Amino acid sequence: MQLSDFPVTHVEHSRLSQVNFDKLGFGTIFSDHMFSMDYEDSAWRNPRIHPYQALALEPGVAMLHYGQTVFDGYKAFRGLDGDARVFRPDMNARRLHNSCRRLCIPVMEIDELSEIMINATRELIRLDHEWVPSGWGQSLYIRPLIIGTESTLEVRAASSYRFMIMTSPVGSYFGDLQKGVSLRVEDRYTRAASSGGLGEAKTAANYAASLLPGSESRAQGFDQVLWLDGNEHRYVEEVGAMNIFFKIGGKVVTPPLGGSILPGVVRDSALTLLDDWGLPTEERRIAIDEVIAAFRSGVLEEVFGAGTAAVICPVASIGYRDEVFHVPAKPPGELTQRLYDELTGIQYGKLEDRHCWNLRVPLPP
Ligand SMILES: Cc1ncc(COP(=O)(O)O)c(C=O)c1O
Repeated sequence: MQLSDFPVTHVEHSRLSQVNFDKLGFGTIFSDHMFSMDYEDSAWRNPRIHPYQALALEPGVAMLHYGQTVFDGYKAFRGLDGDARVFRPDMNARRLHNSCRRLCIPVMEIDELSEIMINATRELIRLDHEWVPSGWGQSLYIRPLIIGTESTLEVRAASSYRFMIMTSPVGSYFGDLQKGVSLRVEDRYTRAASSGGLGEAKTAANYAASLLPGSESRAQGFDQVLWLDGNEHRYVEEVGAMNIFFKIGGKVVTPPLGGSILPGVVRDSALTLLDDWGLPTEERRIAIDEVIAAFRSGVLEEVFGAGTAAVICPVASIGYRDEVFHVPAKPPGELTQRLYDELTGIQYGKLEDRHCWNLRVPLPP
């Protein structure tokens, strides 16, 4: 298979002129082209780029019933020099690989998957370079997705799959760095099982499990859910689309990757930057009671989420049972702002990329 040379079918008419780049939401507009590849007869084959288009699937496709599907998400930023920079796509390839294994999807070798994802991403960005937005906070979100395509109602792994990559120009996910988000601690429903479940895979079921608690949180005036462990509903896990960090008494604490939370790329990047700066961090279990006690005693300094969609997002308040606890400092806290500035500085090419995180894609002027 020639990995670097996908056949390309161009759109006849670009939809670019219909896009209002001043009003990009999150993931509602898709660029002209997409990548597809199929798994049939026990092999991945036929990588290609073609116009973004609807799928023809039989209603009996098992994935629609039993959820055998995985996805991932990363972003390309238009740098100050005009080039696109894709943030750490190798990490997303590795995570997609792990998600496939957990969902029993036949997977290529990690190096092969990574090469295909990176080449396809590069090609899509070059082809649809005018879709890469240039405003601050805007980016091209890249969404790989793998679905089982076999039509059968038997509960077993499918024998055929489609691997797709689509791209979407997006604005910022949660909006306002100066406002921060409000979280509601969920102590009844569970996002993912504490052990042996799907939590560390990026798969539809985890997000489906989050919808009802998410909508209940919004109905109560909160932006997002803060998940606790599925076993005791005692230890903090993560937020809807972000990993969570607390700064307590000068130390930054985040829950460890134990199989039930998503191993975030921005989480890893934030820990690396904190380490670079010589700031003390701890990856350890943190009970919600400890967080509440830290609020009450005044040692809780900052709370922030880290994720591709939201970058670094200040948390302004946390609701637990019948009380709402407000983070004392006006958002964003000093450390939250520093991490946001450093990460976005690297992503937009303003600051040195000393960890070689960016995949640079030169774009025509
Ligand atoms: C459940 C969940 N946790 C954490 C994250 C953050 O991961 P990343 O930093 O790779 O975007 C995401 C977003 O992908 C997510 O959906």
